[in-house]
Amino acid sequence: MKILVIGGGGREHALAWKLKNDSRQPDLFCAPGNGGTSLFCTNLDIKAEDLAGLLAWAKENKPDLTVVGPEAPLCAGVTDLFQAAGLRVFGPCQAAARLEGSKQFSKEVMEAAGVPTAKAATFTDAAAAKNYVRQQGVPIVVKADGLAAGKGVTVALTLAEAEAAIDEALVKRAFGAAGNTVLVEEFLDGEEASILALLDGEHVVLLASSQDHKRIGDGDTGPNTGGMGAYSPAPVVTADLLPFIREEVFGRMLRELRRRNITYKGLLYAGLMLTKNGPKVLEFNCRFGDPETQAVLVRWDGDMIPALEACIDGTLTESLVRWRPEASVCVVLAAGGYPGHYAKGDAICGLDVANALSGVTVFHAGTAQKDGAVVTTGGRVLGVTAVGADLAAAVKHAYEATDKIQFQNMQFRKDIAWRALQREQK
Ligand code: AMP
Ligand code: GLY
Repeated sequence: MKILVIGGGGREHALAWKLKNDSRQPDLFCAPGNGGTSLFCTNLDIKAEDLAGLLAWAKENKPDLTVVGPEAPLCAGVTDLFQAAGLRVFGPCQAAARLEGSKQFSKEVMEAAGVPTAKAATFTDAAAAKNYVRQQGVPIVVKADGLAAGKGVTVALTLAEAEAAIDEALVKRAFGAAGNTVLVEEFLDGEEASILALLDGEHVVLLASSQDHKRIGDGDTGPNTGGMGAYSPAPVVTADLLPFIREEVFGRMLRELRRRNITYKGLLYAGLMLTKNGPKVLEFNCRFGDPETQAVLVRWDGDMIPALEACIDGTLTESLVRWRPEASVCVVLAAGGYPGHYAKGDAICGLDVANALSGVTVFHAGTAQKDGAVVTTGGRVLGVTAVGADLAAAVKHAYEATDKIQFQNMQFRKDIAWRALQREQK
């Protein structure tokens, strides 16, 4: 079996690693992949956004399955393009991927479906948006409509911050066309969790819960990043919430999309705020989370390919997905300066020693192989992932492994999973 994985981050290394360990032992190709995937996949020199290049390769090489990692190719319609060429793809079609590509569309579908979410209003005019903010008061949240590489959301604690965020998008055009429309949204208070679900157009199977750490600094301080670590399960998502999340969040979205002649097949990621009035959706992503995927997939028990194929075929059942009882933690090692400016090309040491530790898998993100060494090429460099009998044990193993790894100006959070550990202590 031949599988193409599109993307080159930590999420894609984790997906490729899980696919490689499938009992069907597929031949894997990664476009473009990274220094980690190059050890067991054929990395292709094709960027994830290069739809024409990807299609040309796929037509010639005929993968049995293509798994799409990032949102950009999904929102650009890679699934539709491949399907039209008779290729099997795991990932939603372009119309369905709009749930991530447009926060306005996503909100409209949620409201029509009756999915619990923050109340919001949409603006293209800065004065009207500011007027609304003054009426509503702070705290309040300002969001660019389109894909803004995780930088389009401002949680404003003052009117001045909210007005500045509106000006960034609507006056300074800091997000380009992605910020031509902004949503001004009610502030929700609570703890966040990520729920990833497989959808086959009809059925919903939830994956194990997880929690991301979006801020760069310990104690959730400093600027937002792509994600500095994750753990699974997230005990804040108690078992009694799961039926609600399955039915009232994912089930309602599927049905409302179907009413609009959109079939969602693939992975849908709900970023939830667990408020005192129950779970509410902060955002939907049309793909696996990064670094949640690293933490979730090491807990997946058995083969993943049958579940992905069932999403394509419309034959998804709960029995295709099982979880190891252990907990897992992923600690992201980032380049100094990230999420701002950072250096590239620094040599990384200690990977083999860290990987040899029991229960540890080091997923690469921004790395490449160069002259027999592994060097940094991105802001988020590695995701040191460990399983343990419980969360405390997983945290211990992950940080033991982290201690073995070094590169110039490496930075990482020392407190991954702190909310869950604190919860356990109480
Ligand atoms: P999003 O990209 O929509 O998930 O937003 C990024 C981050 O902003 C989320 O992970 C939350 O921490 C925060 N956020 C987004 N929307 C809200 C909201 N309505 N209330 C409070 N925080 C929010
Ligand atoms: N970890 C957040 C995301 O993947 O969007």
